[in-house]
Amino acid sequence: MSRVQIQEVGPRDGLQNEDTQVSVSTKVKMITGLVDAGLKRIEVGAFVSPKWVPQMKGSEAVVKQCFQKIPKKRGLHFSALTPNFQGFERAKKSGIKEIAVFGAASESFSKKNINCTIKESFERFRQVIEPAKSEKMWVRGYLSVAFGCPYEGKVSEKKVIQLSERLLQLGVDEISIGDTIGVANPKQVKSLIQGLLKSIPKEKVAMHFHDTRGTALANVLESLNSGISIFDSSVGGLGGCPYAKGASGNLATEDLIYMLEGMGLKTGVDLSKLLKVSKMMEKTLKRKLPSKVLQASK
Ligand code: HMG
Ligand code: MG
Repeated sequence: MSRVQIQEVGPRDGLQNEDTQVSVSTKVKMITGLVDAGLKRIEVGAFVSPKWVPQMKGSEAVVKQCFQKIPKKRGLHFSALTPNFQGFERAKKSGIKEIAVFGAASESFSKKNINCTIKESFERFRQVIEPAKSEKMWVRGYLSVAFGCPYEGKVSEKKVIQLSERLLQLGVDEISIGDTIGVANPKQVKSLIQGLLKSIPKEKVAMHFHDTRGTALANVLESLNSGISIFDSSVGGLGGCPYAKGASGNLATEDLIYMLEGMGLKTGVDLSKLLKVSKMMEKTLKRKLPSKVLQASK
């Protein structure tokens, strides 16, 4: 494997938990900087309830301005979260062509995050995925708390595999397996990936690590060795989920790029340009961001 795909989630997962409301124009500036740095897959917003996640209010404007202001590049993909049919309709109206449904591997997290049971969530996903496919949209399916839940603790590997298979049966093009609260270790990662790849092609699996306990890069390395080549990360290490206490710190995109490029794996990302974006976000949010490469660059 010589090329790795990076799904940048900073403008969505990165910002959704911030107290400082980030304006549409700052988000578009952030996304412009990410594109300029060479990132090709960027999650730019979420068509979720603004009462639940106020920071994602105005995602329509973000999407529209990204399409208007950012020059089209080959292979550039913008995506957004859509939790239900209402979210799908908002997404469709915005002009975005790539969306993501998001479910959980535990009942408690599903309830807290999207206010329904896992069973109900799959019915909602169907109501999004079917029309999305008719519109020829690309759909990602997230599965959160795949290694541990803040409310229930340990999560069964078998359940994660079953739910991932069900998401694919519903028609998602890719699944992202989330260590939402950053508890996974490489041994668990290897075991889960081996289980998943028995029934799911590796090209359809992305890993989404949080660095809450410092294991994110070790987990990426184990995933690479297990055949995975799509990773989610967030510029500066921004992020966390409002419904998962302790979910601070998505894996920082700079830290991921530094390791991958150093290992001779091509990412197409210019680290110095990426650092400009994280420095801009530090100024915007008025705090130090957790990326180690960012802090070492000062
Ligand atoms: P609900 O309250 O059960 O929804 O929320 P409802 O259908 O009963 O509707 C209640 C109100 O919300 C109504 O408005 C609806 O119109 C409105 P009202 O009549 O009260 O004025 N509403 C909406 N408004 C805008 N857009 C919509 C929408 N849907 C309903 N799409 C719902 C259910 C799913 C909407 C809510 O729970 C929600 O928005 N949850 C999102 C939570 C979220 O965004 N969490 C963070 C993302 S997941 C994550 O971070 C993990 C991940 O990154 C992976 C990882 O890190 O591991 C993916
Ligand atoms: Mg995350």
